[in-house]
Amino acid sequence: MHVLVTGGAGYIGSHTVLQLLNEGHRVSVLDNFSNSSPESIRRVMGLSNLSVDVYRVDLLDEKLVNNTLTSVKPDAVIHFAGLKAVGESVTEPLKYYRNNVTGTLNLLDGMEVAGCRTLVFSSSATVYGESIALPLVEETPRSATNPYGRTKLHIEEMLEELGASDSRWSIANLRYFNPVGAHESGQIGEDPQGVPNNLMPYVAQVAIGRRDKVSVYGGDYQTPDGTGVRDYIHVEDLAAGHLAALDYLQTTTGVHVWNLGTGAGSSVLEVIEAFKRVSGQPVPFEIVARRTGDVAESYANAEKARLELGWKAERGLEQMVQDMWRWQKDNPMGFEADHLLELSDEELAAYLQQR
Ligand code: NAD
Ligand code: UFG
Repeated sequence: MHVLVTGGAGYIGSHTVLQLLNEGHRVSVLDNFSNSSPESIRRVMGLSNLSVDVYRVDLLDEKLVNNTLTSVKPDAVIHFAGLKAVGESVTEPLKYYRNNVTGTLNLLDGMEVAGCRTLVFSSSATVYGESIALPLVEETPRSATNPYGRTKLHIEEMLEELGASDSRWSIANLRYFNPVGAHESGQIGEDPQGVPNNLMPYVAQVAIGRRDKVSVYGGDYQTPDGTGVRDYIHVEDLAAGHLAALDYLQTTTGVHVWNLGTGAGSSVLEVIEAFKRVSGQPVPFEIVARRTGDVAESYANAEKARLELGWKAERGLEQMVQDMWRWQKDNPMGFEADHLLELSDEELAAYLQQR
């Protein structure tokens, strides 16, 4: 199958592109590199010894998106491209609505024109808002607590309406819990710009010595050790969930939704402990005030994905931390490839061919 992956140079996208290639799919990547580096794709090509067509395209460029879709003519699209920083979405809400919602609209228009109506969309457990009924099932009522979450909610609703209006569409809304970890080679992984917002990359940067200590947001939650509990899922398991959803969509139309999580939660202190153990490095921390908008606990019921997709997460916390640590140790400053963004399209294409 020829799969177009939007946001394919990003964290989850690059791991998924690698699995698609290894499973024999042809892959084209559409990315504007606003939060990623083409270097991730060069490494994916090296790891797989296979090629990817890369399109440096902004989803907000309606005309270019249309032209790209028409010339690529994919059989299916996996849509990762989007902005994801919760805090930034509160201070710059319009940027988030424009990029995520308008970007998705442009993509859907382009898909219609190209006659491609199979889509896997990156949704998020954030659509469960502040729900306290655990574990979270797909039927849990949806809400949003910030503009980022609301873009995901709006897009899910838009896709439901699109599927209801035209029965030729096959759509999967995948609700990710907390993606962490990296490819076992240590060559690709999450490369946050600036100060990481999320726990795991922050802890990794403390362990490597880039930051002094972890601020633990709240020690008085109603959880076993008082700190927040989340359902961390290895990015390789998450990527596999996309391939399973894509398979499912080959024989089914309509709009489907699946939670992608492990079903088990880990606390902030358990994550810090695991990092100390795996890295052998000290991970100093301090318990500070709760972060606004955080819930005490969040974890999935992932039975629907197991029953319908035959998918389940295989990797536990220890492996998530081991793989994340290998990536961090081998690439202490991430991809360090900002200079690639200065290259012309021709120069970039030539660079990507270098293995
Ligand atoms: P990421 O930032 O690493 O990847 C997103 C990619 O999309 C980047 O390569 C970025 O350059 C690209 N992009 C953004 N806006 C674009 C635009 N207008 N045009 C073209 N490309 C654009 O993020 P990720 O962690 O890999 O997340 C992928 C998707 O999964 C996102 O939609 C995110 O909201 C969703 N998600 C992520 C998490 C998480 O914790 N990582 C959790 C739930 C859902
Ligand atoms: N935490 C700390 N210190 C930090 C960062 C986080 O104590 O420096 C705590 C949080 O309070 C929370 C836990 O670690 O208890 C996890 O926090 P993250 O920021 O890593 O993850 P969240 O669950 O808050 O949110 C993430 C994404 C959202 C997404 C959600 C569900 O950032 O976009 O998972 O998928 F919606």
